Amino acid sequence: MRAGFTSLDREVVAELAVRGELPPWLSGTLVRNGPAKFESGDRSFRHWFDGQAMLHRFAFGGGRVAYRNRFLETPSLRSVRDRGRIAFGEFATDPCRSIFARLFARSATSANANVNVLLGDDRDQALTETPIAVRFDPDTLATVGLTPSDDTIAGQVTTAHPHVAPRTGDLVNYVLKFGRRSLYQVYRQRGDTRELLAAVPADRPGYLHSFAITERHVVLVVFPFVVNPMSFLLRGKPFIENYRWRPELGTRFVVLSQEDGSVVADGRTAACFAFHHVNAYDEDGRVVVDICSYPDASVVDALYLDRVRGGAELPLAFPTRYTVDLVGGAVRARRLADEAMELPRISYRAHNGREYRCAYGVGAHGNARHDFLNQLVKLDVRSGRTTTWHEPGRYPGEPVFVAAPDARAEDDGVVLSVVLDAAAGRSCLLVLDATTFTELARAEVPHAIPFGFHGQFAAR
Ligand SMILES: [Fe+2]
Repeated sequence: MRAGFTSLDREVVAELAVRGELPPWLSGTLVRNGPAKFESGDRSFRHWFDGQAMLHRFAFGGGRVAYRNRFLETPSLRSVRDRGRIAFGEFATDPCRSIFARLFARSATSANANVNVLLGDDRDQALTETPIAVRFDPDTLATVGLTPSDDTIAGQVTTAHPHVAPRTGDLVNYVLKFGRRSLYQVYRQRGDTRELLAAVPADRPGYLHSFAITERHVVLVVFPFVVNPMSFLLRGKPFIENYRWRPELGTRFVVLSQEDGSVVADGRTAACFAFHHVNAYDEDGRVVVDICSYPDASVVDALYLDRVRGGAELPLAFPTRYTVDLVGGAVRARRLADEAMELPRISYRAHNGREYRCAYGVGAHGNARHDFLNQLVKLDVRSGRTTTWHEPGRYPGEPVFVAAPDARAEDDGVVLSVVLDAAAGRSCLLVLDATTFTELARAEVPHAIPFGFHGQFAAR
């Protein structure tokens, strides 16, 4: 699977050969984001999350698939590609610093937004964990510009996983502001206007890659992988290496009211770690939060490029349900299935923040830890039943669910996943029937797409 961690320099525009039959209703664009350049001159980035952002666009219509890929044109890329120099701090790689450059480990101006995308309403943008929007043209993928937000909700860290509030349609996210008392500033955004909903203080803030939303609440799940913000200034280490695993703190669930931002419940359970929430919803007197949960944060270390390329053991996440009592804050945990699952997706538009049944993700065949993520998983969260798609030597990425236009069932639609064929050194775009989890079609890409993170589909 090393091809998945190898730089791709080629930018192409191509009509893809399609094997099988695409549903006639499938019309629109899948844009995916991920790292594609892992070296600069003779220096290598250290971590999977450090690679320079590339966008990939698959346009569906009339049974055909058009593809193009393009680097995000950022200050970071220009330095890496044109000057052979790592000039900005990334997740786990720092520039060779001068005495003047020891300001903040991970500058927002690097703008290497390689994690996710937000599509639609003329606001197509690439997202990362520093609060800056990198706008791009949805047709050409050309970078339009960098727009730091210009209001008072300032900070150093955000998530690349904003949510759409199910009832209002507002975009919800948080910005973490480091300080003697750090603040998770949860905000909602309508148009270009952001409004602070709540500010949750923390002495030792945790690394929160995503958060949960329901119809009435926002839930911050603070895993005990925490940082003393002073260490950014004093220790001079790359961003993530300032964080420490402190299991004695437990995992904290902060349930916030979407109405007035008040803390409705604040509970703790045993230590765990996660990047991704699957979904969450309100029940009588409690909140249900489903998470792809690791026993600890060792997965962060396991994804350093030398380790992951060398076939080091990969920690696995399992879909786990946490219920938080709104009175008293008691938290209970229950594993939903004994099938590993990461990069989870759901039928978002219809079921985000609401009761649901179907989740899709990537997993590890036989829960083996010696290979990379090598299968797709469909999970029925009610019954715990799983269905998998696996082919030896193939490495699928995040499965994006697209609902059929006249969908009658939650899983009436398709799942789109970029799959690396390791032996052939090429990727394809795989289309599965989401109901049966069987192949409908695949479109062959003329090169290997490095393992990416997230993508979104827009019907347009
Ligand atoms: Fe993510």
